[in-house]
Amino acid sequence: MCYAIPGKIVEIKDKIVTVEYFGEKKKAKNEFYDLKLDDYIYAQGGIVIQQIPSDEAESILGTWREIFFKLKETDLRLTREPKTLYQTANAIRHQHTDNSCCIHGIVEFSNYCRNDCHYCGLRLSNKNCDRYRMSIYEIVETCVYAVNKLNFKALVLQSGEDLWYDDDKLVSIVTKIREKCATLIALSLGERSLETYQKLYNAGARAVLLRFETNNPKLYEKIRPGHILKDRIDLIKKLTEMGYLIMTGFLVGLPDQTEQDILSNIELTGTLGTDMFSIGPFIPHPYTPLKDSPSSSIDLMLDTIARSRIRFPESKILATTALETLDTKNGAKRGLLAGANSLMINVTPKKYQKKYELYPNRAGAEEDVKERIDT
Ligand code: 5AD
Ligand code: SF4
Repeated sequence: MCYAIPGKIVEIKDKIVTVEYFGEKKKAKNEFYDLKLDDYIYAQGGIVIQQIPSDEAESILGTWREIFFKLKETDLRLTREPKTLYQTANAIRHQHTDNSCCIHGIVEFSNYCRNDCHYCGLRLSNKNCDRYRMSIYEIVETCVYAVNKLNFKALVLQSGEDLWYDDDKLVSIVTKIREKCATLIALSLGERSLETYQKLYNAGARAVLLRFETNNPKLYEKIRPGHILKDRIDLIKKLTEMGYLIMTGFLVGLPDQTEQDILSNIELTGTLGTDMFSIGPFIPHPYTPLKDSPSSSIDLMLDTIARSRIRFPESKILATTALETLDTKNGAKRGLLAGANSLMINVTPKKYQKKYELYPNRAGAEEDVKERIDT
């Protein structure tokens, strides 16, 4: 099992290396290793995350060669003669990003949150939420298992906005993960100071997942009490300047959202210097002020993915876990066939997964991670 294949370095220009994968060339930034031509590496999000010995790389590639070309063939067949909106989006995805697919593991390490977002089950006022915090040891060991045993090459560390994890604790988590395994580390911690984010960048984190949720300032202020949209957008822009890869996006199906709103949200996502679109359907949680608002339909969600792909052909677009809550069996697959090209798999220890209830009936919360990878 492997989610990223090794690539061979065929050109080096300062920190930028050109890497070849079965004849396809891609560029990546090398910040951490002393590399020369013909070395083999793993790259994620355009960043070299690990150098691997040639014999090991060649053995892995030997196993993958046949599967790689078979998958390419299937992909080509699925994208021929597109007729519907989804098929068109999928064909554009194929044309611009080929059949590469990013798979991130997500570790939800704390469900405490100081905020009171009207849509979210982790909101401070939800006294029915059974709160947990994973220890630094538990978080690091979960990540090491995901990378060294399950072969994930990129991990997202997610929590509510929980200040119990101060700068020292967070830096220690990132540093320890980097010491013990080679992975792209993405942070999804909410709004923290620039100083905190800088310290975490220096410790080796390289990506941030932070949705702006809605680009309508009035709606934003209403559903995120005490917050303003401009601060969120400014933070996203500053994190991009700091060097972080940004994953951002919005919620589809929020109350009173119009088609025009969705289009302008897509526009904002694509113009924020975004590395990956993270767009999710709104699903009402019974212990929130939005409990009686209707859920987004899967069709609206798939339309939004397809429109994002058509508008921003080269982007990485996540088929979010919430899609699988709308269609347990085929949600992720339908997202991928509508133009998405990235997946997130929950690697949080099982005993915590159900407690991280942003919205009810989260897909995968009952399943073992190995089962999910296999499907
Ligand atoms: N439905 C769907 N997504 C939700 N999130 C929070 N609450 C809900 C909900 N009810 C998403 C937000 C946040 C992410 C961590 O979870 O978009 O950014
Ligand atoms: Fe907290 Fe994020 Fe939920 Fe808002 S959406 S309550 S910030 S976990």
